[in-house]
Amino acid sequence: MPVLEAKEIRKEYKMGEHLVNALAGVDFQVEKGEFIAIMGPSGSGKSTLLHLLGGLDVPTEGNVILADQPLAKLSERKATLVRRHNVGFVFQFFNLLPTLSAEENILLPVIIDGKDPRKYKDRLISMLELVGLADRRHHKPDQLSGGEQQRVAVARALITQPAILLADEPTGNLDSKTGTSIMELLRRSCNELKQTVIVVTHDAKAAAYADRVIFLRDGVVVYEYKPLSEVQLGDRLRGIMSTMEKLES
Ligand SMILES: Nc1ncnc2c1ncn2[C@@H]1O[C@H](COP(=O)(O)OP(=O)(O)OP(=O)(O)O)[C@@H](O)[C@H]1O
Ligand SMILES: [Mg+2]
Repeated sequence: MPVLEAKEIRKEYKMGEHLVNALAGVDFQVEKGEFIAIMGPSGSGKSTLLHLLGGLDVPTEGNVILADQPLAKLSERKATLVRRHNVGFVFQFFNLLPTLSAEENILLPVIIDGKDPRKYKDRLISMLELVGLADRRHHKPDQLSGGEQQRVAVARALITQPAILLADEPTGNLDSKTGTSIMELLRRSCNELKQTVIVVTHDAKAAAYADRVIFLRDGVVVYEYKPLSEVQLGDRLRGIMSTMEKLES
């Protein structure tokens, strides 16, 4: 059973008189524990697709099935709950609350869900260890580096053990070395926690951490790169870069 499924999804945005066709029929399935990257030129529909997959928005046509629930058929309230219980989000600009400490930020989804954060003590400790911030837990966001803030955001996205982690350009605002450490962290969460991860990225180096790379163009999937599992990072990177060159020509 796939943990997430996109069925012929289309998305049109109305801009005054104009219709923007952001997604023009996308189909795909994601298995539990898969690590997927979505690539494509600016405006190709990557963020739109990620938002629809996570139930942040609804498709104009088609459906997204997340943890056995067809999102388009749910009321807004039910969809919010399904999203809250099944999806963790990481964004390019970290989106931490500035007045809260690292650990308070990480526990935020638990509090929003009306649960007692004290019951999440062990989980918090294992998250702080996963992201390597045990000694920074009381720091506020402005006392953390960009990479550390993004690691807090990853821990916050994983605290509720969501079925899928969705990340939109999680390394887009970081230098290359820090970006690599974030991708390694996401890869580790996939390997060690069997976490399903979907990352939107412009960066072939980041996409090389994925098991499968989906290329979008003008709102449709134009290619899927799926290396054998034994293919190493450097060869994956070369495979992705030559695919990008072919698609651009
Ligand atoms: N809220 C909106 N209203 C109208 N048009 C939109 C809206 N959001 C996105 N679009 C349009 O839909 C298309 C796809 O946008 P999307 O943000 O998904 O692209 P993207 O691949 O994430 O691009 P980037 O790499 O620049 O982030 C673009 O043409 C964009 O202008
Ligand atoms: Mg985008």
